[in-house]
Amino acid sequence: MTTTEDEALRLDADDPGHRHLFHVPPADGGRYPEAAYLAGNSLGLQPRATRDELLGDLDAWRRLGVEGHLEAERPWLPYHELLTGPAARLVGARPAEVVVMNSLTVNLHLLMVSFYRPAGTRTRVVIEDSAFPSDSYAVRSQARFHGLDPDTTVVRLRPRPGEDTLRTADVLDFLATEGDTVALVLLGGVNYLTGELMDIPAITAAGRAAGAVVGWDLAHAAGNVPLHLHDWDVDFAAWCSYKYLNSGPGALSGVFVHGRHLGDPALPRFEGWWSTEAATRFEMTPVSRPPATVEAWQVSNPPIFAMGPVRTSLELFDAVGMPALRERSVRLTGYLERLLDEVTPGRPLTVVTPRDPARRGAQLSVRIGTGSAAGLAKRLRHEHGVIADAREPDIVRFAPVPLYCSYHDCWRVAEALAATVEVSS
Ligand SMILES: Cc1ncc(COP(=O)(O)O)c(C=O)c1O
Repeated sequence: MTTTEDEALRLDADDPGHRHLFHVPPADGGRYPEAAYLAGNSLGLQPRATRDELLGDLDAWRRLGVEGHLEAERPWLPYHELLTGPAARLVGARPAEVVVMNSLTVNLHLLMVSFYRPAGTRTRVVIEDSAFPSDSYAVRSQARFHGLDPDTTVVRLRPRPGEDTLRTADVLDFLATEGDTVALVLLGGVNYLTGELMDIPAITAAGRAAGAVVGWDLAHAAGNVPLHLHDWDVDFAAWCSYKYLNSGPGALSGVFVHGRHLGDPALPRFEGWWSTEAATRFEMTPVSRPPATVEAWQVSNPPIFAMGPVRTSLELFDAVGMPALRERSVRLTGYLERLLDEVTPGRPLTVVTPRDPARRGAQLSVRIGTGSAAGLAKRLRHEHGVIADAREPDIVRFAPVPLYCSYHDCWRVAEALAATVEVSS
């Protein structure tokens, strides 16, 4: 490697990010005290502010019991509303279009109840072949729920032979030629495996022009890349808060439904007591009166202890701002790419993520030609204190998350790969 450790340290001094706001796990051996944490696309690190936030909520429950619903410093009854503004800003939505609730796959199902409505010859669901398995299982089970054969109903778009990522033009071609059979397009905004950022506005426009509903799984996009869901005319979207949103394992999911669908009485929805308007909720009437906001999709009362970490994290995103974060993300990911370009030639390592920064977020996925991805990730962890994430059989993912990762972390990744993976003879 020609790039020196000193250069990485100099870059960190000039462009330090916000690492000081996070707990970074220890390296547990090796030359450095802290791990190089490149797994924030799987589980983000804990913000230092989260613990106090949680303790405050626990304390309110200890002191107030049921009266916390109205008397806590942040009363629990309207607590979820505290998350709405920052979540809406994060994804480029109007506040009425966003709510935080449940887990991601649960929300995708709730949204498909409304937005996957196969009829006549328009029955198909389009996903990417490398969709996260949960999405694949979800759409297949939705097809079965409607009495359809999942094998013929679910269309899996594949990259061209010999290529790793989907071309936007191929998605658009498919929608132009076969879109009249498609009821729903449900793609990952950033693909979990390859890190490819899809052209969300172009695909949304093409899907809608073809008469389909277009939804997005933004698990790997929210907090990672700038989003403008309202202006892009996306029908619906959902994301989780445990990756780039740093809200803890299994953290709550955000939901977006475009304003044009809000208050539409023709849309079927599954309801519970939190689907009815807040003003009359405690009149306990047998029939709901849903508000003309996405809160009509809420079902249960919100889990307050799960909401505190999301609120803390969203405040951080508000304070830093997505544009500044994206700029640092492009710099940091570009730096990691440059270092991998020094290390991969001659080794059985290939970066499969698009090279164009406009087509990716803060993730580079590396395909390994020999051995197992899990085996390599284990060696990186235990011999070099580099925490990355393996997706068997052959992908190791590195996420230089701009909030807390450093240039030195990127340098450590490249150095560790160079030391661990032998040059092919
Ligand atoms: C793209 C994507 N979709 C869906 C899920 C499933 O999320 P959950 O378990 O919160 O439903 C994940 C989890 O990592 C994911 O990466």
